[in-house]
Amino acid sequence: MKKIGIMTTGGDCSGLNTAIQRILQGATLRGWDVYGILDGTDGLCVTPPAVIKLNDLLLPIENARLAGSFLHNGRANALNFETAAEIGKIKHFNKQLHKSLDELKLDALILIGGNGSISLAWANREIYRDLQLICIPKTIDMDIPITQQTIGFNTAVQQLTSYCDQLMLTARSHHRWFVVQTMGRDCGELALHAGVAIGARAIIIPEIKFDIDVLVKHVKNSPTDYGIIIVSEGISLRGHSGRPADMISRKLTAAGILNRTAFPEHIQRAGDTTATDRILATRFADCALNAIENNETYVMTALIDDECKTIPLSEMIESGDVVRDPKIPDLMTSNAYVSADEPLLDVAYHMGIYIGEQK
Ligand code: F6P
Repeated sequence: MKKIGIMTTGGDCSGLNTAIQRILQGATLRGWDVYGILDGTDGLCVTPPAVIKLNDLLLPIENARLAGSFLHNGRANALNFETAAEIGKIKHFNKQLHKSLDELKLDALILIGGNGSISLAWANREIYRDLQLICIPKTIDMDIPITQQTIGFNTAVQQLTSYCDQLMLTARSHHRWFVVQTMGRDCGELALHAGVAIGARAIIIPEIKFDIDVLVKHVKNSPTDYGIIIVSEGISLRGHSGRPADMISRKLTAAGILNRTAFPEHIQRAGDTTATDRILATRFADCALNAIENNETYVMTALIDDECKTIPLSEMIESGDVVRDPKIPDLMTSNAYVSADEPLLDVAYHMGIYIGEQK
């Protein structure tokens, strides 16, 4: 009989509970015990470690569709890698994590995290030397290398689509435009997919340079006098500071185009998990459990050409764009972005959506 742990780290997104519930379901069938670590690594920084033994009553199947994490994702001011780095306590932090894992006597740990958490786990892999470490990728940003899907992305696109669908009606009534700023950090995947889904007039993403005058002209020449312009939070406009949507809004106003800004913010991380994300979470849970059975470690589940498999963490890190974390100089994070040959860019262009100066 095995004893396994689950931990959700980094920002939350919809689909985490599905993954947790499915891991529990599959592990129980195998006769394994499952422990949930509370608040990500924060739960390993206290003595005794903050864990709960999971069972069907704690996380019933009907709750698996709910956003957020049943196990929590941690507090911003708690002792974590970031705060430990700031106060020069990384060694202490790593020692504490190893000690807690040792105490829990886990055979395996499933870490459900984004590129920051997974890069971090790899950089500090010694912490996990005495157990099997299996990572499952989740993020609304879709910025994790190799895997073609991450848990939470599809629901975030759906949330943005529903949000913009509502705005479109009021936009039409008042003959004006909405500049909607999406999340996504430096990756434009979320903005691109939501923008195509709602039929945006323009989609501005960090990966593609845009010309503000061309954008304004494109909106002016629109066959409609209302609509939506999607702007990813990671873009910048030379000579301007502040929120990207505000910068673009000011330019539109200066050109006589009536508009308002809208910030869906954390609504993008909420919402009942879509069927697509639930299926993905179930496949990743199954893949992670199989990896434990096969004695794998330091791997991440990934969806590649619709096949779910594990890849070594080293491969995930090396195949992305490895950049120094702006907050933690010691940490290199591996990122993925919208690639220049992404077919959706062509589709958007052919539909008359302004996507910047690439084409
Ligand atoms: O990485 C997920 C994400 O939602 C980003 O898209 C966004 O920039 C960031 O987290 C927001 O973080 P916080 O919840 O700490 O404001």
